[in-house]
Amino acid sequence: MTLTFDNRVAIVTGAGGGLGKLYALELARRGARVVVNDLGGATDGTGGSEGPAQIVADEINQQGGEAVADAHSVATSEGGAAITATAMEAFGQVDIVINNAGILRDKTFHKLEDDQLHPVLAVHLRGAFNVTRPAFRQMREQGYGRIVFATSNAGVLGNFGQSNYSAAKMGLVGLANTLSLEGARYNIKANCIAPMATTRMTESIFGQEIKEALRPELVTPAVCFLAHEDCPVSGEVYSAAGGTVSRFFVGRTVGYYNADLTAEDVAENFDQIRDETGYLVLDDANHEVGLAYKTIRAAAE
Ligand code: NAI
Repeated sequence: MTLTFDNRVAIVTGAGGGLGKLYALELARRGARVVVNDLGGATDGTGGSEGPAQIVADEINQQGGEAVADAHSVATSEGGAAITATAMEAFGQVDIVINNAGILRDKTFHKLEDDQLHPVLAVHLRGAFNVTRPAFRQMREQGYGRIVFATSNAGVLGNFGQSNYSAAKMGLVGLANTLSLEGARYNIKANCIAPMATTRMTESIFGQEIKEALRPELVTPAVCFLAHEDCPVSGEVYSAAGGTVSRFFVGRTVGYYNADLTAEDVAENFDQIRDETGYLVLDDANHEVGLAYKTIRAAAE
């Protein structure tokens, strides 16, 4: 075992079951001290119990690891602050945050009501802000941090009936992109994992053969690496499913340029605008500003 987490403290949200529980167990097995956070509610976010987080923390402690349970909700900023406070009180530092807590309230967009929209945004998107912001402040002071956000192919690619969830999950990609820039000087890295795994959240969605193939423990290795000191990247998105690991990325086509651009130019040159030949993967917003400016300047000279 070369990827160890000795002297590291990890917060894993939604770690009372499903994928989060496996992340917490594996980080602890590899030496991390872990805050096992979970509200202990149903898949739709209703209800709550301190039981699931406590059971996982107990399991880690019985196996010779170190863990504390935390039952705060990620959906409020008080809850997020309390989760970091739990880590500071128990272990005195926060090195890793795995933003994994999640709920589903699927509805096609035209039928989507506020009580299906707001709780989903609150847990996935605002929840990530609530938990990560206090931890990020601590990481800046420490000069070290690893942050992983659980995104989804539903966000990166879209999924029928999940506009609320998709938007929240893609919001996390934007958050990781910017934290990768703001955290760089402090050795803080932020990446996203897009898992596919059989859990209570997905067991009614996948067919039997897919369910057997998408063993949740096969997502954990990619999460461990993204949470490790050796992780070489920041602001990136990785898919992990049944033993496959891949990278999602956003590309920009070379496109079309005309100093006197009209709507008709766009229509007539749409194939060229969409042509993926020679596309680029850019570092940040400034990189694109520079690229556009270079094209404009080159044409003027
Ligand atoms: P799960 O339902 O087993 O686990 C989610 C956990 O989050 C639950 O234990 C739940 O109690 C906890 N939670 C919910 N609201 C919370 C809150 N406000 N505060 C604290 N904890 C809360 O589901 P699963 O599959 O393990 O999902 C984990 C993450 O991975 C989620 O963010 C999910 O959206 C994401 N994901 C999962 C996929 C899959 O194929 N299983 C696919 C894509 C993304």
